[in-house]
Amino acid sequence: MKVHGKVWVVTGGGSGMGRELVVALLQRGARVAAVDVRADALAQTVAGADAVERLSTHVADITDVDAVRALVADVVTAHGCVDGLINNAGIIQPFEPVAQLSDQAMHRVLDVNLMGTINMTRAFLPVLIDRPEAHLANVSSMGGFFPFPGQTIYGASKAAVKLFTEGLYAELLDSQVSVSVIMPGAVATGITQNSGVEMPGGEAAASQSRIPQTQPADAARIMIEGIEKDKLHIYVGKDARFMNLAIRIAPRRAIEMVQKQMAKMMAPREPVR
Ligand SMILES: NC(=O)c1ccc[n+]([C@@H]2O[C@H](COP(=O)([O-])OP(=O)(O)OC[C@H]3O[C@@H](n4cnc5c(N)ncnc54)[C@H](O)[C@@H]3O)[C@@H](O)[C@H]2O)c1
Repeated sequence: MKVHGKVWVVTGGGSGMGRELVVALLQRGARVAAVDVRADALAQTVAGADAVERLSTHVADITDVDAVRALVADVVTAHGCVDGLINNAGIIQPFEPVAQLSDQAMHRVLDVNLMGTINMTRAFLPVLIDRPEAHLANVSSMGGFFPFPGQTIYGASKAAVKLFTEGLYAELLDSQVSVSVIMPGAVATGITQNSGVEMPGGEAAASQSRIPQTQPADAARIMIEGIEKDKLHIYVGKDARFMNLAIRIAPRRAIEMVQKQMAKMMAPREPVR
């Protein structure tokens, strides 16, 4: 579905890829309802966007079912209808093995990434189904089809988002709602900090990291191009495309290789003197 002239809801619109999606959708002539749990982040998105007369902002926590239901009415009041939903909001988990992760951290990542996406989808689907054409896109991750040690519950939440979205694709085949699942590789955003998580090896290790990252504006462009082509699977970045091949061709070797890299990253470092 072409984005021009349509009304889009974007969760996590306050930063990273969500912010760039909001900016790019407005540039392409769409109307946008940006949703985020952080009001200050949404204000920064507004400050950096053009055509703000086509933008509304909504502070809401997608894990709160009542707030999500109220959001549907708020967006329809602001824009008259909803043609597209991009479930982008998400968090990572602390970089810890499953057995060491606290119950609270585990539930939070599952709640936001999986239940938040499900809540938003269930609340907005009746409105989307009423439109002449509509689109639903859910942001999963490369981590949703390839395991990264220390992010296993995150990966499980994103794998569930992938299958949830593919199930919706099947259920909605005879409708006018098209469905995409988006799988970004590494993207240069503040997700670690925004999730309240420390980078393994500290910030110095993060800044020295040689892992190539896609820029969030490029990620947003690739997502929108995929949505406009009604692609079911949208891979963002060379790393996501490569890992998708690696896990199919040589799963054990690929997993072992990544495990070794992650172990090096997570090993305690000597303090720099
Ligand atoms: N950055 C990456 O490398 C990467 C890779 C693959 C997938 N992803 C996924 O892409 C999506 C966007 O991530 P990003 O990197 O732009 O992160 P980000 O932290 O920059 O943006 C995420 C936004 O979601 C918001 N958010 C978090 N919890 C929320 C909640 N409960 N309700 C409403 N809003 C909430 C945050 O406030 C934040 O503004 C996430 O789903 C993430 O898992 C990111």
